[in-house]
Amino acid sequence: MADFSRRRLLGGGAAVLGAVGLGAAGAGVAVATRVSERMGANTVEPHGVHQAGIDTEPQAFATFVALDLRPDVDRAGVIGVMKVWAEDTRRLTQGVAALGDTEPELAVDPARLTVTVGYGSAAFDASASAAARPTWLRPLPSFDIDRLEDRWSGGDLLLQVCADDPVTVSHAVRTLTKSVRSRASVRWVQRGFRHAVGTRPDGLTMRNLMGQVDGTVNPQPATPDFDRQVWNAGEPAWLAGGTSLVLRRIRMELDTWDELDRPAKDLVMGRRQSDGAPLTGTAEHDDADFEMVDDHGIPVIPPESHVARARPRSADEQFLRRAYNYDDDGAGLLFAAYQGDVDRQFVPVQKRLAEHDALNTWTTPVGSAVFLIPPGYGPDGYPGDALLE
Ligand code: HEM
Repeated sequence: MADFSRRRLLGGGAAVLGAVGLGAAGAGVAVATRVSERMGANTVEPHGVHQAGIDTEPQAFATFVALDLRPDVDRAGVIGVMKVWAEDTRRLTQGVAALGDTEPELAVDPARLTVTVGYGSAAFDASASAAARPTWLRPLPSFDIDRLEDRWSGGDLLLQVCADDPVTVSHAVRTLTKSVRSRASVRWVQRGFRHAVGTRPDGLTMRNLMGQVDGTVNPQPATPDFDRQVWNAGEPAWLAGGTSLVLRRIRMELDTWDELDRPAKDLVMGRRQSDGAPLTGTAEHDDADFEMVDDHGIPVIPPESHVARARPRSADEQFLRRAYNYDDDGAGLLFAAYQGDVDRQFVPVQKRLAEHDALNTWTTPVGSAVFLIPPGYGPDGYPGDALLE
């Protein structure tokens, strides 16, 4: 992200400085200072092979919205929703008010806004494309640890709206939901946050509300690992470049977590809370050594710890985690996992964790939803055009 903002600054320095009212004489100096970094001016390209918001460096704020299609919505209706969302997205992500925007002033600071659209299982029925629905697009199997509530689960369509400014996110969510309300109603809204931009040095892994460094073992965008894990390779063909989202709302039992001392917390995770390093290493990105034993022959990383249980048992069992914290209605994690195939990649890991994971004592899944994220689209297209055209 450091590179990203610096590039923008150098490329568009004059415009950015102009916007904050600095004269040309001061420009040379101001470029190097924080005052010129108007985060709000930063934009993310909405078009491409993939939808934005997945390989995008996570923005500080995310709102996930599930919608249900009204019963009379057919294929043309679904296409209509998608075209409206594509047009709103094109505009809002570039700082341009949506058509008919009642508060255009709220659209001027895109702050790296991305809008990622997903299809739930029922959207395939409504659009008369049930035959094209991948088998993994259905609710996850139920797990003993689950305490799922309807108010955080399911949905026919998904909007994932992310930006570095919460006002931008709120306005985009309102605009996108308002513009389709004759065809779809909001089922649930889940808001999440990470560290605000500028609070910490760029590139640091975020901390969740248990205090842990969260997101260390993750594929890096634009690498072969990322492409293999995240983007669907074309099964079915129209889905090439798309992916899936499993969103689990996982409550943290922070009051009882508080009762553990630090060594116990580290053993539950298999990593140190202080710096995120595996118990067998000294730095966050050291490889964990699951075979290492201490002088008494006891594994240094407990086999029941979260990372020992979660680590992949095969190359298939890998995915991108792009989680957000929440603290409304309890506290926890909006655990968002992206993978080309839910059944092959995600379910085996979730199953193993549900069977046993030391962390389960302090975490409770209270919401669950699975969406298909269609591939990216072009300036004349919309999310899902490869399926519906
Ligand atoms: C690793 C926290 C739920 C899968 C980690 C790490 C933390 C963490 C702190 C170590 C650092 C890292 O690599 O990110 C949590 C919390 C959860 C949660 C607080 C619930 C509130 C889940 C769930 C899954 C999962 C539901 C999957 C079904 C993983 C995986 C790793 C991991 C695959 C990397 C393991 C490795 O290869 O080392 N988690 N996690 N986690 N977690 Fe979770």
